[in-house]
Amino acid sequence: MLHTNVKINELGHLEFAGADVTVLAKKYGTPLMLLDSERVKSNVNVYVNGLKSAFTPTSFPCYASKALSIKEIYRIVKAQGAGIDVVSCGEIYTAKSVDFPMEKAFFHGNNKTDSDILYAIENGVGYFVVDNVEELNAIDSIANSKGIKQNVLIRITPGIDPHTNAKITTGQVDSKFGTPIETGQAFDITSKALALKNVCLKGFHCHVGSQCFDSTSFIDATKIMLTFIRDVKNLFGFDTEILNLGGGYGVRYVESDPEIDVLKNLEIVGKTFNDILKEYNLNVKTVILEPGRSIVANAGLTLYTAGSFKTIDGYKSYLSIDGGMTDNPRFALYGSDYTVINASKASLEKTVIATIAGRCCESGDVIQENVSIQQTSRGDIIAVLVTGAYNYSMASNYNKLCRPMMVAIENGIDKVIVKRETFEDLIKNEI
Ligand code: LLP
Repeated sequence: MLHTNVKINELGHLEFAGADVTVLAKKYGTPLMLLDSERVKSNVNVYVNGLKSAFTPTSFPCYASKALSIKEIYRIVKAQGAGIDVVSCGEIYTAKSVDFPMEKAFFHGNNKTDSDILYAIENGVGYFVVDNVEELNAIDSIANSKGIKQNVLIRITPGIDPHTNAKITTGQVDSKFGTPIETGQAFDITSKALALKNVCLKGFHCHVGSQCFDSTSFIDATKIMLTFIRDVKNLFGFDTEILNLGGGYGVRYVESDPEIDVLKNLEIVGKTFNDILKEYNLNVKTVILEPGRSIVANAGLTLYTAGSFKTIDGYKSYLSIDGGMTDNPRFALYGSDYTVINASKASLEKTVIATIAGRCCESGDVIQENVSIQQTSRGDIIAVLVTGAYNYSMASNYNKLCRPMMVAIENGIDKVIVKRETFEDLIKNEI
């Protein structure tokens, strides 16, 4: 199977994290999202251990909350000793609600408002990742009004295009994120940060893009960033303490995606880092990565109930499910690939080609186009694999549909971690 937490049991049903998913679908109803807590833990630990051993002893990962920002994930990340990347006050609020140590939080975003900045400072966020000069000045003045000195990193655009999906690429010079090296503006913002009284510059950040399957972009980013750090040292005499290289590695959604050995890749990038560090005689103490997708994606799976199966003669077949773009908008947005299985008949061969359609009132509400699946009858449980990242966090209430429930499985025991939304929830803010 695609990942080791997915199996077919002796009843021919799909098993996830050791649980028969058809039993869980019956117990909790569908659409249902499952989370393999053990898998989240082990995914975090790969980065915790890998960064320490490949880079420096004080290096660590910050989980990118945007992939799935719920209390349970922050509890797990906290227990493993990792930090977090947050991009909104809502993510800060959620993390704080389980007493996440906010000194390990890095606050991102290309347009932090004054009230965001104030909220983050008042809630003890450890580091701001500063996007631009205006924001830098705003942080300085709000930190001054609060009588503190705020730790910051500056987000640099290194000028790298990793050639994944254009909508999730961020490292090229023309980007809404960060300040570019190529135009000289990165040096300018650095000298301004060094001159301010209420910010304390700790280092630099870059992020090239998401869903990278090898280390090419990370190696390029390491070379460019360390060269920039050397130039900054020569120009301003500033010793960079922290280098944050952004998001983590890609994830296998379908059989044709490569399997990726994160530890091995970290070692490769770590070697480049340490070689250049020596060559340039730099003293960067800590390297951070901000994996999101590779922490939660393969720890998640979504279950639906099959509805009608309709064949348009001479065209194609549609299998309708009781969820869709409201719980997983990634095919509609990016044409993302997914593996779909009839969990009730998982041991049968996939002999049917069908488009898996949601129930929103628009044709674009599709989870996957022309995928192979087992012969399916109304009422069968349909599983979509690897849905832990950017599914629930991007879910919506379009067509006034309730967002699904999420159930965690830990050591064979299932427990609700996010309740199913109710109709009351849907109108609770309406007057
Ligand atoms: N750090 C920064 C600054 C980022 O912008 C991102 C992702 C990450 C870390 C985490 O990257 P990851 O390890 O998850 O690849 N909604 C899109 C993905 C958008 C990613 C945006 N930034 C999707 O569903 O594919």
